[in-house]
Amino acid sequence: MPAEGGKQRTERPATARVFFALWPPPEVARQLSAVADAFAKSAGGRATRQETIHLTLAFIGDVPLERLPDLQRAARKVRAEAFDLTLDQFGLWRHNRIFWAGCSILPPALAALSAALVAELQAAGFSVANAGRSFTPHITLVRKVMGLDAALPRSAPLAWRGGKFVLVRSMLSVAGSSYQPIAEFPLEICRD
Ligand code: 2AM
Repeated sequence: MPAEGGKQRTERPATARVFFALWPPPEVARQLSAVADAFAKSAGGRATRQETIHLTLAFIGDVPLERLPDLQRAARKVRAEAFDLTLDQFGLWRHNRIFWAGCSILPPALAALSAALVAELQAAGFSVANAGRSFTPHITLVRKVMGLDAALPRSAPLAWRGGKFVLVRSMLSVAGSSYQPIAEFPLEICRD
């Protein structure tokens, strides 16, 4: 039916903004959150809230709600092994003013997981925002850092077992992002 004034109103499909990620166990998130708070206090910026700390594997963006089952089907096809992840470095990207935690040695199984996930998503017709770029796993700890020459903190390496990955819906608001888990996908335990 034509909208008021004779103009055709085009209905936009309901969408969800989604991405795949690794979520650290609570103790690791607690320690990272403490680092983030301390850094934001000295260098300015907005520290990531403890419950939202994560490592993005593949960012999809907005998808129609009815495509979420396809997304989950694609992720279930991924065959990848569980791995140990050691966060042993902090860095500050000047171009986007992000303070992050990362690993100096990329576990081969994490690289393989990211590649396998991107391949399955693309095969299912999804476009992955970070697909063309080399995978730079990082955990954003502070955004909009003001003091770009602030000294980076030192901390003992934080290790965790990456045993699953998750599909998450992101809701944006003025208070920052909040995340709702949609589904989780276990990784294979390697016995050798
Ligand atoms: P960032 O932490 O480096 O900003 C939820 O928004 C997650 O998806 C964040 O970890 C964010 O990475 C990542 N993300 C958001 N937009 C993205 C994009 N266009 N490409 C890749 N990752 C993105």
